[in-house]
Amino acid sequence: MRAGVVTPGVKDSYRVLEMPAPEAEGKVLFRPDLIGICGTDQEIVAGLYGEAPPGEDVLILGHEVLGTVLEVPAGSRLKAGDRVVPIVRRPCDHCHPCALGQWDQCQSGDYTERGIKGRHGSLSERAAASEPFLVRIAAEVGDSGVLVEPGSVVAKAWRQATLAQRRLPWVPRRALVTGAGPIGLLAALLLTQQGLAVTVMDQVSAQSGRAEAARALGAAYAEGSAGLAKGTAFDLVIEATGFSPLVFEAAAWLAPGGAMVLTGVTGGHREVEEDTNQFNQRMVLQNQLMVGSVNAGREDYESAVAMLERAAKDHPGWSQALITRRVSLAEFPDGLLHQPDDIKVVVSVGSA
Ligand code: BGC
Repeated sequence: MRAGVVTPGVKDSYRVLEMPAPEAEGKVLFRPDLIGICGTDQEIVAGLYGEAPPGEDVLILGHEVLGTVLEVPAGSRLKAGDRVVPIVRRPCDHCHPCALGQWDQCQSGDYTERGIKGRHGSLSERAAASEPFLVRIAAEVGDSGVLVEPGSVVAKAWRQATLAQRRLPWVPRRALVTGAGPIGLLAALLLTQQGLAVTVMDQVSAQSGRAEAARALGAAYAEGSAGLAKGTAFDLVIEATGFSPLVFEAAAWLAPGGAMVLTGVTGGHREVEEDTNQFNQRMVLQNQLMVGSVNAGREDYESAVAMLERAAKDHPGWSQALITRRVSLAEFPDGLLHQPDDIKVVVSVGSA
């Protein structure tokens, strides 16, 4: 079978290789239909991140996946033709959260991630996964099912915020999402569904497709911090750019008792000058909270599916504004090159 692979650690080593079909023994065999491309793939292709499975030299990419079931083991609750999304992370075998099934909270760092760290992904003509690590999606969700994985990251961020905010009486009304990429827009979708008044802030123009997509979901759009109404304070901030100086800037826009969830990362180093006394004062005197959130658990995938099912009803065709470009397996590197109108680029695995 053809698969899109890299040699981890080697810059621009992406190529399409003939690879052995996956071992389907006792597992669900599926055909990956659409694979989303994200910043993590960019880092892996740049040689900055990623790990091949033990004993192998190459890593099959692909962690944002929408597939169709081909074969199931006896006794499976899935059937051929079901559309499924594989869960990215697998637990380590020696930390407490993983033992409890909370692999997204792994503390040893020895977890594996499909298509990222120590485990092949699904950027291939065939893939297999064990049933507990597959999430079935309703037919109505259609191709927007490729957004389940990034959606699960957002669902976890919201779950973390609501869990952590049980520490005080918290009735969130206003939310700010920094970044109008796929994660930011999915955060806007989730938070508007939760009844919050959402502002999405990004640097792109208020006339751009991203700004329009935010407004179509019922959020307001702010072009840079200058676009925010003076003095507005937010009960919740979801940081979805990974641009670390913004973390400190946005902390100043939190309301008393407010929470900020950090979902993005950027590799390398960056130094900025900050008034750390002010930052510290606000956090202490206003009981504020900042929490990091990575990956997602099964319940978050299920919440993401529910979010997308609802979006399919509330905003028919909405995902077409988000999935802006489709490329083939061989064109994956072009998919990584950012074009001005790109929001989410996906690989259509079956295309020529
Ligand atoms: C994925 C997460 C993963 C993280 C770090 C992100 O792109 O969506 O599932 O945990 O990368 O590898």
